Amino acid sequence: MYTEKVMDHFSNPRNVGDIKDADGVGEVGNAKCGDIMRIYLKVDNNDVITDVKFKTFGCGAAIATSSMVTEMVKGKKLDEALEISNQAVAEALGGLPPAKMHCSNLAADALHEAIKDYITKKGK
Ligand code: FES
Repeated sequence: MYTEKVMDHFSNPRNVGDIKDADGVGEVGNAKCGDIMRIYLKVDNNDVITDVKFKTFGCGAAIATSSMVTEMVKGKKLDEALEISNQAVAEALGGLPPAKMHCSNLAADALHEAIKDYITKKGK
């Protein structure tokens, strides 16, 4: 049902935790299942994401997509990170079962919220 990549990111999630002095924090919830995902970003003066962590209270697919999105954005510029879609995260994991596609929505949405939070805080 799940690809090896999904199982790998679920069993060994990358970048779990929080960043105390984060430059941007994004939180989204899934109204259907009640799961919540939070993403923390550190951003340098050139708008490059230098660190990213996540905390997800949710299903295995939500944890795997959170882990994958953190790997996809580390070292990227904010405008590149904003282009990462929910679909791209699911594809990077080799796909998700149709019934679990909605779980991938949390990952890119939380990332985009964190970037918006950074932009608002910096007044950019
Ligand atoms: Fe809630 Fe997957 S079932 S995010």
